[in-house]
Amino acid sequence: MDSPVQDKSVASGDTLDLRDPYPFFTARRREGGVFHGTVMDYSKTPESLRPADSYAALSWTAVNKALRNSKVFSTALYDSTIGVFMGPTILAMDGITHRAHRNLVSAAFKPQSLSVWEPDVVRPICESLIDEFIDEGRADLVKDFTFEFPTRVIAKLLGLPAEDLPFFRRAAVSIISYAGNVPRALEASKELKEYFLGHIEQRRSNPTDDIISDLVTAEIDGEKLSDRAIYSFLRLLLPAGLETTYRSSGNLLHLLLTHPEQFAAVEQNHDLLPQAIEEGLRYETPLTLVQRYVTEDTELEGVAIPQGAVLDLVLGAANRDENRWERPEEFDIHRTHIPHISFTAGAHTCLGLHLARMETRVAMEALLRRLTNITLLADGDPHIFGQPFRSPTSIPVTFDVR
Ligand code: HEM
Repeated sequence: MDSPVQDKSVASGDTLDLRDPYPFFTARRREGGVFHGTVMDYSKTPESLRPADSYAALSWTAVNKALRNSKVFSTALYDSTIGVFMGPTILAMDGITHRAHRNLVSAAFKPQSLSVWEPDVVRPICESLIDEFIDEGRADLVKDFTFEFPTRVIAKLLGLPAEDLPFFRRAAVSIISYAGNVPRALEASKELKEYFLGHIEQRRSNPTDDIISDLVTAEIDGEKLSDRAIYSFLRLLLPAGLETTYRSSGNLLHLLLTHPEQFAAVEQNHDLLPQAIEEGLRYETPLTLVQRYVTEDTELEGVAIPQGAVLDLVLGAANRDENRWERPEEFDIHRTHIPHISFTAGAHTCLGLHLARMETRVAMEALLRRLTNITLLADGDPHIFGQPFRSPTSIPVTFDVR
């Protein structure tokens, strides 16, 4: 299958440019919303992990419809892709099994927890990261801040020692970039299993106040989660919780710093942060697509799709559909809010969406409260890059202390 991907820096509607895939998405969406082909680059993916036949949905209606029909557009596909490295997770489950497991693990993400995590975990972590660079008057807000805080937050919520941060961040990244190095991803998967088994055992004999303890004590119909279900879920949480949040908060910072009037509005009124966060997620979603396996011959927006095909659901394209938003190609935090689809929809809607929003708001509040005159430097041409994961290459800034 031909890949449409080009690693070049000139935007075009003919090829998918990793710096700006949106002209390509728009051109394909205007041709019909669903097309036979893929927006993924499989050139480095081993043959055994490549789909035989692919389709891509780009319009809001097509993406939303497919996400809400998990019987025909199934996540079971993840069992033979990322699931090879994570193990059986709720992401790849369907129907009653998915609902039961999701109910169990979502107990660990209950809204009451957020009100405790904000002052006790997230705010102190953000403040201490700022302490580490504030005296310098300059920083790379990716390396020094956005890359750091979500990992530290997840580690704390799981009750893992801070000194293990480099290990499990490296392992999580190896798993998520499995297509480039399968043996390394398998090794990381094994290491994480051994690591988490040790923690599960500890919590079983001595439960503490953290997510691993919640998972160890959770029950479905009187049955507890197996060790395999727990360590697989934990292997999912690492990339799910770190990769997306670090990238989306970097995207928001980059967008605000390159739109100075909107940045000034947020600086003056922190109450604008929730709408800025939503617009950042719409305009530059950290994950441009999810995928589904087609379980029976079907049709989507007038296009016939055969059983066995893999469907790319291009969230990035749906988020800029001109049939849903006016001026979709403009970043505008003041626009009337219409929900985006960056957390998807339907049964597999992101379980961590409230945590992600809270983390991003708290991180931004901490930066804005302590720094002023934040100026983006042109060093190294910082820009948002990538597909399906997108985020800034760096955010070099100078600033004054408030
Ligand atoms: C801005 C940040 C985030 C974004 C954009 C995001 C995006 C997503 C998306 C698109 C999915 C659905 C995947 C699919 O349907 O194929 C998903 C699922 C999930 N996310 Fe997030 N996520 C974010 C943060 C988090 C955080 C912080 C956590 C937890 C610590 C988390 C945990 C999960 C879990 C467990 C699922 C699986 C839900 C299920 O299959 O029922 N996410 N996320």
